[in-house]
Amino acid sequence: MSFKTLDDLDVRGKRVLVRADLNVPMRDGHISDMTRVERVVPTIRELAEKGGRVVILSHFERPKGRRVPEMSLGPLSEAISEVLRRPVAFANDCVGPEAEAAVAKLQDGDVLLLENTRFHKGEEANDPEFAAALAKLGDVYVNDAFSAAHRAHASTEGVAHHLPSYAGRLMQAELEALESALAKPERPVMAIVGGSKVSTKLDLLGNLLERVDVLVIVGAMANTFLAAKGLPVGRSLQEKDLHETAREIMERAKGSSCEIVLPVDGTIAQEFKAHAATQTLPVDAAHDGMSLDVGPDTARLIIARLGTVKTLVWNGPLGAFETPPFDASTMLVAKAVADLTAEGRLRSVAGGGDTVSALRQAGVLDELTYVSSAGGAFLEWLEGKTLPGVKALDAKVGG
Ligand code: 3PG
Repeated sequence: MSFKTLDDLDVRGKRVLVRADLNVPMRDGHISDMTRVERVVPTIRELAEKGGRVVILSHFERPKGRRVPEMSLGPLSEAISEVLRRPVAFANDCVGPEAEAAVAKLQDGDVLLLENTRFHKGEEANDPEFAAALAKLGDVYVNDAFSAAHRAHASTEGVAHHLPSYAGRLMQAELEALESALAKPERPVMAIVGGSKVSTKLDLLGNLLERVDVLVIVGAMANTFLAAKGLPVGRSLQEKDLHETAREIMERAKGSSCEIVLPVDGTIAQEFKAHAATQTLPVDAAHDGMSLDVGPDTARLIIARLGTVKTLVWNGPLGAFETPPFDASTMLVAKAVADLTAEGRLRSVAGGGDTVSALRQAGVLDELTYVSSAGGAFLEWLEGKTLPGVKALDAKVGG
């Protein structure tokens, strides 16, 4: 696909409608993770410094078309302002007279944040009239919300049909990183897929089989594959109704040039609690416990294989990493990925909420080639789906 970037745009004196993803995690009314704010600020800063009149749109949580005071974007204007080091005004609505008046007041270089787009039903319905009302507030549209691009909503998709549309710097970085990881990667390519359920990752596994050379399946979802092969998994989490599907996936891999790597050992405990007593057992040993992390031989095997590939795509932890000692393998592999990346031997791209938390816990969040700030959008991209917000930016389709 091709898309226009800020390099193609002269913004001086123009009203620039920027779609950000300010759906940040909050705890007790405070932003608990500023990553999404920090990542969108470079686009806002560049546009403001070039003399644009920046109007920011975003959703926050899921108010379902109603005005929910706790879901106001109000507190975000201060957060953006602190990182941006410029004042950020706020308007109580994202369309209509209040928004229009606030936009009309803007001078070149000013920044304005509008209220939660999801306070209006037209947002999620991608209502053309609502998209037109948003478009009225800008001369050009910049989408910098890759993490919301899997939603065909008015502010992520509809508005792009009304205005000349561009990818912001964060959107551009995400698309370039993801393209270099799967669309045009340096081979061999390895994918590590973890997490608890095969059922949520079926499409993803199917797509990766066609695209990668080595597919490493870890986390609790590996138990379903091991059990499908007739191996004992004790009381480990597994999806019995998906044994046939797991066998089909392994069969398809044989027919393609993709090698599937499953755990060779597990860290077994009788109860799932912090610092529980554990036993390391090979996957063919019978037990009545739960495998809560892949074992050390599996971590060593993955690290050895990482040394033989050029590109890694990673989604999902290897074990129950939030509860020690079941974080051991995820931490070991995260550090190895960071080291190989630092040595210039590996291009590493990771994404998804749990994976980002695990990388942060390992202290290597900034040491991979690229870590996506997207959750659902990253998964849909791994599934091979066309994201509507990205498609609308396609220079051949959009304005
Ligand atoms: C996200 O946090 O993944 C995006 O902001 C999308 O949010 P949603 O799942 O509520 O559409």
